[in-house]
Amino acid sequence: MNHFEYRDSELFCEGVRLSAIATAVGTPAYVYSSATLEHHYAVFKQAFAPRDVLVAFAVKANANIAVLATLARKGAGADTVSQGEIERALKAGVPPERIIFSGVGKTESELAFAVKARVYQINVESVAELDALSRIAGSLGEAPSIAIRVNPDVGAGGHEKISTGKGDAKFGVSPEQALQLYARAHIDPHLTAKGLAVHIGSQIRDLAPLEAAFGVMRGLVERLRGDGITIERLDLGGGLGVPYFNEPDPPSPALYAGMAARVLDGLDIQLAFEPGRMIAANAGVLLARVIRIQERRGRPILVLDAGMNDLIRPAIYDAYHDIRPVQEPPPGARHEPVDVVGPICETGDTFTRNRALPPLQAGDLVAFSSAGAYGATMASTYNARALAPEVLVRGDQFEIVRRRWTLDEQLALERLPEWMK
Ligand code: LLP
Repeated sequence: MNHFEYRDSELFCEGVRLSAIATAVGTPAYVYSSATLEHHYAVFKQAFAPRDVLVAFAVKANANIAVLATLARKGAGADTVSQGEIERALKAGVPPERIIFSGVGKTESELAFAVKARVYQINVESVAELDALSRIAGSLGEAPSIAIRVNPDVGAGGHEKISTGKGDAKFGVSPEQALQLYARAHIDPHLTAKGLAVHIGSQIRDLAPLEAAFGVMRGLVERLRGDGITIERLDLGGGLGVPYFNEPDPPSPALYAGMAARVLDGLDIQLAFEPGRMIAANAGVLLARVIRIQERRGRPILVLDAGMNDLIRPAIYDAYHDIRPVQEPPPGARHEPVDVVGPICETGDTFTRNRALPPLQAGDLVAFSSAGAYGATMASTYNARALAPEVLVRGDQFEIVRRRWTLDEQLALERLPEWMK
C-alpha cells in the first residue's frame, strides 16, 4: 500500500497535490510519503510479532536524514555501510545501539569510528577485517559486538548486479570459515562475538533461496552451540522484493516472516533484518516534467527534465518504473506506445522504450513510481546537473528536506591550479 493516489483528477501524495510541489520546488524532484514509510515499517515489524526483531533500515536505499528520522521515531534501526551512513543515522536520531555496520571495504578509520560510536554490531566480512578490527578495538580499549557475514552460496535477486549470496560474490566468508572465525572472535578479548549475518541479494521475489540461506544459518548456530560456543544473534539481511507494477507482486512481509519463523522454529535467538527497498521504494516518486515530444517515424519520444543522473536504475539494471501522468487521464484515454528519455547525452539515458502511456504534452508532469529506494541515493551530477531536491510529505503538509544545489555551490568545490593563474 502507498499514499500516491488520484483525487480530483490529480495525483496526490497523501493530502498534497504533486502539482503544488512541482510549482514550489521545480522539477525534477523526489517526493516521499511519511505515512507510507511508517506503514511499511510497521507492517514489516509486526509481521514477526510477538517476536521482537530489530528492523535496521538499509540507509543505502534512502539516506535523507528526514526519512531516517521518520523511521527512527517509530523504532527503526539503521543498516549502514560507511562512516557517512553511520553519521547520517546518528544525526537522524537513530541510537547507536540500533545501528549495524556492514560492508566489505570498511577502512580502518571507519572501523575505529564505529567502535567509538559503540554501534549495535559490526558485521565482519573477512579474516583480514577481523584481525584489523581486533587490533583497532584493542588499541581503543573497547570490545565491539560483532557478527560474521556468511556467504551461504545461494544466489537471489532481481538482477545479477544485486545478487550477493553466491559463493563467488565478494561478500562474506564460507559457512565453514564462518564457524572458525566466530570461534576465534569468541575467545578474542578485544571482540564480543554475538552472531552471524547473511544477505543474499535484493528485489528477491521467491522465498526459496531465502529459506535455503536461513536454513544454512540455523545449521551454523546449532553447530556452534553444539560445540559449547554461545551465539545470541542472527542478522538475516534485507532483500525482500517490492511491486514495481509490471509483474506479479512478490511475497508479502507476512509470508516472509512466516517462512523465517518456520525455519528458525525453536531456536532461541535475537533476530535483526535490514530491509531497504521494502520500506522506501513505494514511499517515493520522482516528479518530472515533459520538456518536449520528439515526433519521429515509428513512435514519439517523450523528453523529460529528469535523466539517468537522477534515477539510474533503468540504465543499469533495466529496471521498470511505472510512469504516471500527474493529471489523471480522462476515462478511456488511448494509450499509445512511446519511448521516455532524459536530457543526458547518451543513449543509456532511456527510462523505457515502447511503453503505452496516455497522451502527454510538453509541460505536463509525470511521476516515476517506486523511486523512494535507490533513487536519490544513486543520483549524480553527470552533465553538470544539480542533484534533485527531496521533499517529505506528512498529511497535508510538505517540506523540502534537501534543497536543490545551485551551480555556484557545485563550483565552490573546484579551483584552478596555481600554474594556471
Ligand atoms: N543489507 C545488506 C548487507 C545489503 O547489501 C543490502 C542491499 C540491504 C541490506 C538492503 O537490501 P534491500 O532490502 O533494499 O533489498 N542499487 C540496487 C540495489 C542494491 C542493493 C545492495 N544491497 C537497486 O537499485 O536495485
